[in-house]
Amino acid sequence: MSVTAVVGAQWGDEGKGRIIDYLAQDVKWVFRFQGGDNAGHTVINHYGKNVLHLVPSGIFYPGVNNVIGAGCVVNPQSLLEEMKKLTAIGVNLDKLWISNRAQILMPYHRLLDELEETDRGTDTIGTTKRGVGPAYADKAGRSGLRMGDLLHPEWLEGRLDSALRNVNRKIELLGGKPVDGNALYALCMDYRDQLAHRIVDTVPMVRQALKASENILLEGQLAVMRDLDWGIYPYVTSSNPSAAYASVGAGLPAGALSEVVGVVKAYSSCVGDGPFPVELHDADGTKLREIGQEFGATTGRPRRCGWFDAVAVNYVAWLNGMTSLAITKLDILDQFETLKICTGYRMPNGEIVTDTMPDTPSLYEAQPVYEEWAGWNSSTENCRHWDELPKAAQAYINRLRELVGVKVGFVSVGPKREQMFVVK
Ligand code: GDP
Ligand code: IMO
Ligand code: MG
Repeated sequence: MSVTAVVGAQWGDEGKGRIIDYLAQDVKWVFRFQGGDNAGHTVINHYGKNVLHLVPSGIFYPGVNNVIGAGCVVNPQSLLEEMKKLTAIGVNLDKLWISNRAQILMPYHRLLDELEETDRGTDTIGTTKRGVGPAYADKAGRSGLRMGDLLHPEWLEGRLDSALRNVNRKIELLGGKPVDGNALYALCMDYRDQLAHRIVDTVPMVRQALKASENILLEGQLAVMRDLDWGIYPYVTSSNPSAAYASVGAGLPAGALSEVVGVVKAYSSCVGDGPFPVELHDADGTKLREIGQEFGATTGRPRRCGWFDAVAVNYVAWLNGMTSLAITKLDILDQFETLKICTGYRMPNGEIVTDTMPDTPSLYEAQPVYEEWAGWNSSTENCRHWDELPKAAQAYINRLRELVGVKVGFVSVGPKREQMFVVK
């Protein structure tokens, strides 16, 4: 039996979706443990190319239970739209479940995200405007509603009333149009009609799964550099993509995790605001963005690109107790004469930091220290074994492994399910 958390180990969009799609062939359960429909997890397999926002990435296997866990915020509207698209291409959704403890992301959360970002003026977070921050703020403020509340209409009505008093005050203050309680209640009843049979208490399920020694995958949304506590606060998401939260978000005992796979691109990318020390503003940055097709899967925004940041990934590996690395998009480096790896940050006092992340204001002042590596100038996209990789690619990966301090378990050389191999 294995309980494996799959976490983004950089700034997001590392290829978590495709790694889960690959690993899910050997499991019975996939739990999404945090985040909302801000996710854009791209999966390419025999169903074509699909970008998943809320539905866990194990959905393409009919025998796998896919659960949206208690740590998530669920926009029922976008979930229903996503389900419709998946059904239209023949994906079986019989085993898609939603924890009754997951928060409901209401239309007013989206509105507030929009209004709050505008209100920040030039000092934005660069959110996806999916309402995720306001939904988690309500959760922490104890005025959120949960998916299970849809099953208790009277309770829901009372909760909605008290939530809206606050929400409407906030909306009006920010210049928006207040929400009509009756219309929203009716909308919730519509969500209930469509989703009630999928809303469950996941605890008995998980207990049974552990008892039966079934393999479980825990899918993180976003990445640790955007973690609410350990990322580049305030330019973070409003929950914890870190592995430690995987148990909470899925409803597992703290000691249940047996593996933590950290997903990293062979270089770096980041979408949204905040300090990003390895960001390139030169031809290499443009080349990485163009070859890597680095445009947001949810918002379409161009991603900021740079060389691999071993300081950040080493920090994430330590914080997460990472047991292996999954390196994606190696093929994007196929056409570079030379590559760079950031091995440290030079701080204004001359100190070179390698074993932690400076706090956000200091990070703006960090200068990346690079070492250069020879490129391989040949295609890796058909490699299906470590020995088939060019020697220079092996040397590059070995150096990443050494700097991060974690073994490499998987390498991917293209976006399709089969363009990936296990490193023994
Ligand atoms: P996620 O949010 O972490 O699941 O990642 P995204 O789906 O947002 O972004 C990863 C992008 O890279 C997607 O377009 C994937 O299809 C693509 N991708 C993933 N792995 C590889 C790879 O090894 N090579 C190439 N060329 N593309 C990849
Ligand atoms: P996946 O799951 C990349 C970024 C936003 C912003 C910050 C907060 O595909 O990796 P939020 O909407 O969560 O309040 O935004 O986090 N962000 C992402 N960046 N990929 C994502 O999802 C992201 N989800 C949020 O750009 O900087
Ligand atoms: Mg993404």
